[in-house]
Amino acid sequence: MTGRFISFEGIDGAGKSTHIRAVADWFRARGADVQLSREPGGTPLAETLRDIVLKEPMGSLTELLLMFAGRRDHVETVIKPALAAGKTLLCDRFTDASFAYQGGGRGLPLAVLETLADWVQEGTEPELTLWFDLPAAQAAARRAGAREADRIEQQDLDFFERVRAGYAARAAKAPGRIVRVDASGTVEQVGAQVLAVLSERYPC
Ligand code: TYD
Repeated sequence: MTGRFISFEGIDGAGKSTHIRAVADWFRARGADVQLSREPGGTPLAETLRDIVLKEPMGSLTELLLMFAGRRDHVETVIKPALAAGKTLLCDRFTDASFAYQGGGRGLPLAVLETLADWVQEGTEPELTLWFDLPAAQAAARRAGAREADRIEQQDLDFFERVRAGYAARAAKAPGRIVRVDASGTVEQVGAQVLAVLSERYPC
């Protein structure tokens, strides 16, 4: 049995968390065995690393390595077993976030990221990635007042525009897998786009 691996991406404040819940409901209504996970995190070890990476001051390369250390544990102990059991695994962020944040935002070399991704994932790749895209200024306005910003969310607008460009570059390289959703509209408008993608990809 092989399950389905779907990831959700976008800059902080894009609203992806709301839509993951709707996607989970959509698959459950069609009888799928849905499992939700997230990165950084998704395992006890990776959640500990998440706390560290989002709170403690550190350099960009350390940040990247911690993201991939957590991802390795997540792939081995959660993602691969879930897919082997035929589950529909919905993951709030995956490797594209490292390309966008540490590659685009921090400016780390993409060749290093490619190598780490090959090692860590060993071919485990989402079959579909929904990328919630909107201008950095609009995302910042949505985040304002939501809750205290973590270390990465405290970055300036330029950083988030670079992250956004990182996602765009990634999407251009994997047009069959990464689908851009215009996240600048209302929850209903964005949700309608998401449902349209799902209906097209997974006809009953
Ligand atoms: P997120 O799940 O969006 O946190 P929350 O919705 O609870 O605020 O992700 C946490 C942060 O981690 C976010 O700023 C993006 C960042 N991140 C990276 O920089 N690299 C990565 O590889 C991943 C998975 C996340």
